[in-house]
Parts: sequence; C-alpha cells; structure tokens
Amino acid sequence: MTIADTHAPTCTPSSPVNKQEAINRLMGLAVFGEMVAARTYNLMAQLKPEFGVLLRKFAGMEGQHASWFRDASKANDIEPDKEFADHELDYLIDQVNDHHAAGDFDALIVVQGLIVESMAIATYEPFLEVADRYPGARSAFQQALDEERYHVDWVTRYLRLQFFDREDDFLALAGRVNVAGIDCIGGSMMKIADYLSTIGLSGADCAGTMMDGYTELLERVGIEQKKAAKNVVGLFLPLIHKYRHGMKIK
Ligand SMILES: [Fe+2]
Ligand SMILES: [Fe+2]
Repeated sequence: MTIADTHAPTCTPSSPVNKQEAINRLMGLAVFGEMVAARTYNLMAQLKPEFGVLLRKFAGMEGQHASWFRDASKANDIEPDKEFADHELDYLIDQVNDHHAAGDFDALIVVQGLIVESMAIATYEPFLEVADRYPGARSAFQQALDEERYHVDWVTRYLRLQFFDREDDFLALAGRVNVAGIDCIGGSMMKIADYLSTIGLSGADCAGTMMDGYTELLERVGIEQKKAAKNVVGLFLPLIHKYRHGMKIK
C-alpha cells in the first residue's frame, strides 16, 4: 500500500475522469444549467407580472450565457455532456416545478437567485484563472459572471425589502427551501469537485467559495453575520458528511 492509497478519499469519483471528460462535463453543466436558469426566471415572471419585464430580461441573459458557452465549447472541441448535466439538473427542475405549481415565488427566488447563482459565481470566478487555455472562454465567462452578480444584486434587494423586519420568516423560508436546494445544488458542487481539480482548479476551494458566497448573500438580505454563517454551515454539514462517507447525495 502506498501513501497515496492510505490517503485515498472515502468517496471515489462516480467515474474515472480525464481532462477532456472533465471539461465536457463541466461545460455540460454550465450550458444546460444556464438553460434551466433561463426557464426558472421565465416561470418566476409568470408568478409576478409586476416584475415580468425584468425577470424575462434575466431569462434572456441566462439563455445568452448558454449560447456563449456553447460557442466557446465548439471553438475548443469541447462536447458539453448533456447526459451528465441532465442527471445533475433533474432534481433541480423538479424542485422548480413544485415551487412554481405552488405559486411560491419566494421559494423560487431563493433556489435560483441565491443557491444556483452562488454556485455559478463560485465556479465561473475561479475558472477565469484557466480560461485562457480555451480561446474565447474568458470573455464569455467574465461577462456571464458580471451578469450573475447583477442578478444577485436584484435578488438580495428584493428579499431585503420583502423580509424587512421579518428576519425569522426569511430564515424559515431559506431553511425550508435549502433542505432540498443545497442537497441538490451543493450535491452537484461536491460531484464536480473532482472535475474542477482535473482541469487545474481546486474543487474544495470552489465548494468553500460557494459556502462563503451564500453566507454573504444571507448577510446582504439582512441576516446578522454569525446567524448567517451558522445557518449555512448547518446546511452544508450533512452534505459534507454524506460526501465524505460516500453516501448517495440525492
Ligand atoms: Fe447565467
Ligand atoms: Fe444569473
């Protein structure tokens, strides 16, 4: 037994990864995840016609991100892995459909505006470090990143106004949505950690950045720092535990 063996992770990657496979899967999640984001903002627009123009604009931007990423993939012989992405996104789509059917706009805004956007930001930002290896990718990811931040600005402002002076109600909402939301999105984050490492990024750093980013968003909505951190750690811990023990994440 080598030292590497003794330090082998308790959870083996779901399949062996080479660089090409890793980038195909990551780009698959980016392209098809953006398409899901576009659909979610459109569904949100249906529920709150007063924000319809803005939310449809967001949907259009997400659709544009998908097509930029598709173009960048084509230019670099990357084949976005749809089968992998579909498997990762199924559970998210189910949740979005359930919240939409229940007319639950606030749940949708937490899933899309806080959780999905946090994951996008936490992966696009570090990807810029290696983006120059893929001609055309830098401008696509930089612009998408700027626009995700713009979406998050609006989302946090909306939630801040909506839950002004109702911190407990907001935490209850976040808790309710997050139990499934983090399991699903955070679960994907854990799964792609290996692929991120394969292309030269730190999967652990990205997951950590996502937790930090999400905590910061809760703070921006008005939750005191300690409470926000406690809330986020409480949400991610069961997931980290499952991941480390090789249990099924979703
Ligand atoms: Fe996007
Ligand atoms: Fe976005």
